[in-house]
Parts: sequence; C-alpha cells; structure tokens
Amino acid sequence: MMLIGDPEKRKHTEFLVKFFRSKNDVMKSQDMTEAASNVHKYTSNRDIQFLNREGKTFNKTAYCCFVDGTRVKCSFPNCKGYENKLKWDRGTFYNHMKRCQKKEYKFSEYNVVAFRMNRKKVQVMNVQQLAEYFKEERERQLKIVPSMYWTATAFHKWSMTIPGINGDDNFQTCADAAEFQAKFERTDQTSDWKKCFVVQDSSGLEMLCPDAEAILNMLELHDGDRQRRFIDVYAGTFPVATQKEFVNLFRTPVKERTAVFNNLDMEVSDIREFKDAIGLPKFVRNRSMVNKLKLRNRPMVDRYILITQAGAFTDFHQDFGGTSVWFHMLRGKKTFFLVEPTEENIKKFEKSQEHATETDYWYGDKYGVNIRKVTLEAGQTYFMPGGWIHAVYTHEDAVVVAGSFFDEACISRQLRTFRCEEKIKAGNGNRVAKFLPIHFAYMEQKLLKAVKGAHFFICGIFKNALVLDCNNNGSDMRSLPDKKQTWIIFQELYAFLDEFKKTGGEVTEETLKPSKKALDVQIGIQSRSS
Ligand SMILES: [Fe+2]
Ligand SMILES: [Zn+2]
Repeated sequence: MMLIGDPEKRKHTEFLVKFFRSKNDVMKSQDMTEAASNVHKYTSNRDIQFLNREGKTFNKTAYCCFVDGTRVKCSFPNCKGYENKLKWDRGTFYNHMKRCQKKEYKFSEYNVVAFRMNRKKVQVMNVQQLAEYFKEERERQLKIVPSMYWTATAFHKWSMTIPGINGDDNFQTCADAAEFQAKFERTDQTSDWKKCFVVQDSSGLEMLCPDAEAILNMLELHDGDRQRRFIDVYAGTFPVATQKEFVNLFRTPVKERTAVFNNLDMEVSDIREFKDAIGLPKFVRNRSMVNKLKLRNRPMVDRYILITQAGAFTDFHQDFGGTSVWFHMLRGKKTFFLVEPTEENIKKFEKSQEHATETDYWYGDKYGVNIRKVTLEAGQTYFMPGGWIHAVYTHEDAVVVAGSFFDEACISRQLRTFRCEEKIKAGNGNRVAKFLPIHFAYMEQKLLKAVKGAHFFICGIFKNALVLDCNNNGSDMRSLPDKKQTWIIFQELYAFLDEFKKTGGEVTEETLKPSKKALDVQIGIQSRSS
C-alpha cells in the first residue's frame, strides 16, 4: 500500500502526527468527542498555527479524522460525521469535508491525521496507518457475530439465502385473532403447542397496550431514574443507563449514531403505571402455567419493553427456561430466524455454544440446520411456543411489548431448555430464577391429584362420602385417554425434579416424597395390569 510515499511531503505528515502526540490534553482524552474538542484548541478548522524563530506565525494544514465506532468525523465544529464502513476512501472523506466546510480546496492525503481510541488510549495515525487499521479491523470483525462489519456484509448475504415461512407447516399466518384461535385448535396445539403463529391484526387479542411514543414517554416518566442494563451491539458490551438516559440514546438521529443499542432487559411489571397500561393477550392469560398455581414468588417475566435500534442483530438463542413468548410490534420492523427445537437441532446448538460469537462455528451456517425467516411489522403479534431457537435482526428502530410465560403444553421443551442452559452454563441473568419451584408446584398442585386418583376405584357414594376400594388394583393411567398425557408428563417431571433436587430450598428429597409414593403405586398398578 503506497498512500503517502513521497519522503519530502511525508515529513509534513510526521510533523503533524508528532505535534498531536505531544499534546497531553489530546492524548489523555477519554473518548473521541473529548479528543475532537481538545484537538480543536490547536486548529482553526483545518489549519494549525505555529510560531517560527522570528516570532512570526505560519500555518500548517491538517485534516483531522476522528474514527468513532460506526462513524468518521472531521474536525469542523458540530461535524455529524459519515457512516464508517471500515475502509479508508479519500474521495468519501474529501466530499464529506467539502460538505462540512461548504467549500472546495485541493485535497492531499499528506495532510490527514487520524485519531481513534485503542484500549481506552488515544492513538494518532497517518493515513497509511489508518488504512492498515481499517483492513485489520475488517478482518477481525468478519470473524465476530454480530460486529458492525459482519452485520453489514456477511449477515446480509447469509440472510438472502434463508427461505421464508411459506409452505412450512410449523408456521401459521393468521389475519386476525379469530383465525388464530381457529387455526390453533384445528392444528391440535391446545395440549401440545409446537407451531409458531403470526397474527396480522392484533385488535381482537384482548390485550391492552399504549402506542410506541406513549411507552417511551412512560419510561422517562415512571421510574425514569432506574438503572437498566442494555447492549452495545457491535461492541458486544453491556453498559448501564437510567431509563431516561436510554430513551434519549434511542432517540439519537440515525445520522449521529456511533453505535447501535439494544435493550431486551426492561421488565416493567413492578412499575404500577405499566402494569395498569399493559394487559396481556387473553391467549396468554388463559394458558400461563404460573397463573394456575399458588406460588410464593412469581417470576418477573410477564411484561417486557424491548427497544432496539436499526442494525441490531441478536444471535441464536432459546428464550430462558424454554418459556413461550408473545411479541407485539408497536413500531419498526424485525426479522426472526427460526430453528425448530428438535433433539438434533438442540444438540447442535449446544455444540455451537462452546464457541459462541466465532463465525467459524456459527449456528447460522456451520451446522446444517433448517432455518426459516419471518419479518414482523408494526401492529403484528407473534406467538412462539417454548424452546424455539431463534435469532433476530432489526431493520428499523423498534419498540415492542412482549412477555414470557410457561405453558403446560410445552413442559417437555421447557425441561429440555433447562438442561441446555445447564450444559452451556447460561448466566443467571439469562435464566428464570424460579424454574424448579414453578415446575414442582405444577406437579404437586396439578398432576399429583390425578395420579393419586387413579389408585382407587370409586365403588359408590355412602352417606355423602366416597367409598374407595383400596384392595382393587386401581387403574392403569396409560389406558385412560384423559389420563394418559398426565401420566407421561408426571413421570417426566418427577424424573427431572429428582435429578435437580437439592438439600434445602423447595425441591428436596423430602418435598418430593408424596410424588415419589404416587409414582411407585402407579408403576405397581401398571406392572400388575400388563
Ligand atoms: Fe428471544
Ligand atoms: Zn465533518
């Protein structure tokens, strides 16, 4: 690469670089905004003034170039910068400067001095070093999901190869709530929910929800000072800001952004105004396992506000605890990439997680799984049963209300996801805290009675009391159509809870005893009946 090869002219460049490297205030800047304002102290837009030996001033021209995340800015005051495609292009930079300064001049790369943050330190470069940095950075980012360069290039190419949901029976598109209900029943999802549903007109879902702008205002107004963790998507970091600050960041005009932010962590059920303003869809209220149980603690996963800037990609994952999800788009546009949670696909997913974020092992293209994509727009609601492995790309700034819930028709997949989380050592922040107590309560409060009931034949009613014949064999649940499924789930749940029981807490050897006894009795009945 020969960008600035002339030794005489290069002296000028070295002079400029040395000049800024000698300025303590510039070099001690914490970020590029601060660096730019410090650099500006020494320059009048593009000239730096010096004193010669006779005390006369003379100018040297310097085109300062600040590389800041996804943008490059010049040294003109209030420069908004241009989109940084990690490539040095003299034409782009010169045209940008012309626009900022509103005049034309002779451009020379020997006048360029570039600045960037390198591990929290300011680095000053000539144009050749800048071009080399961009090249290395492109190569580095291409290996990282979801860095800026990977998302802008490899992701879009990959996305084009993924087929839509048309013709795949796992996905059902419904015009409205009535069609959703009809299709849900017709495809036998009620007791074994496995398909994903898109509802185009959400008005009949009997949910309550303010519009996107109202939601943003509420986040500023109610508990606006609460600290929330969010994601700096391209940097892969997790900064913290108050709700107010985050809404402000979200509203940054696209042309001024130096990063892309995503917030998937705002559960708002404990803020009264949100609890009153957001009512879950009737479908969810009716099906939520937790709603049917007496529990000491409910998990806080009912109401999330998801706020995402355009360009964000969330890599493949299962929602925590294998929870099912409702997802209502208030603003923006997102594409879901979906993989059915078959045992084979989950095994491959676990494997891919050993090398999370490395493209050499990326789940999206290195494991031969069948992926489908569906794009959701404002007004639509998406219902996804537990366990589905998915990634999400946001095309336009999005505001979403969503909630997670355990569904009794997804218990197997919930347990399977829990095992997966154990295996990939998912962090506590990405898990449902009350997973074991909830599933224990479900077994005890909902299934145990049915299993015990099968131990006896009811002989008759005598003086208003049931007369039970304990000498009878009892009934084999496998042969009773309405008990068969209960028995399968009971067995599976018991084996699971027995495996994950602890000493202390809610799921222990001791608390499992009544279920263990019922299990043994039923197994005895079954061995005698077969
Ligand atoms: Fe998710
Ligand atoms: Zn500019």
